[in-house]
Amino acid sequence: MAITSPENRLWWKERISGPELVWVGVSLIWGLIMFFAMIYWHIEGEQNLSNEAYRITAEQFAEKTEAMVEAYTVREEGDTGIPVVHPPAGSDVYLISRLWEWTPILELEKGQSYRLHLSSLDWQHGFSLQPTNINIQVHPDYELVLTLTPPETGEFSIVCNEYCGVGHHTMVGKIYVVDSK
Ligand code: CUA
Repeated sequence: MAITSPENRLWWKERISGPELVWVGVSLIWGLIMFFAMIYWHIEGEQNLSNEAYRITAEQFAEKTEAMVEAYTVREEGDTGIPVVHPPAGSDVYLISRLWEWTPILELEKGQSYRLHLSSLDWQHGFSLQPTNINIQVHPDYELVLTLTPPETGEFSIVCNEYCGVGHHTMVGKIYVVDSK
């Protein structure tokens, strides 16, 4: 509510002044430019991969991941014995994020496409794959699926890039990419 009421109570029937109309026009055009830039940059910017999202519960996602881990674990790593999983080329692979880890360690083959499923078992995390420009928010109750085709071999780090509590800075994981057999 205005402190003093407008002189003409039907203010919306007044003519818009010239400069105001120019600003409305400029804002509208700039808004449209920004809108189409988002679409253009998604296609041309080599930024993030297109992904799909599905509803899933933490239990269901953990179950799917465990089934993959059980079937394709090739070795374990570190003091905590985190499983290294080498799933068949071209298959669906699962990666759990939770306080404060990424599990399991995936071992993928260079040049093969995988359907990577991401979900969180607690709250929001961020999947940032180093040193690429892949950066995806990971939410509980949603399963994000993206197609990943590693172009080179090596060890790639995953860092959590959404603040998720006191252990946030320790929430790192990795993906190995090896030559295909
Ligand atoms: Cu998980 Cu920050």
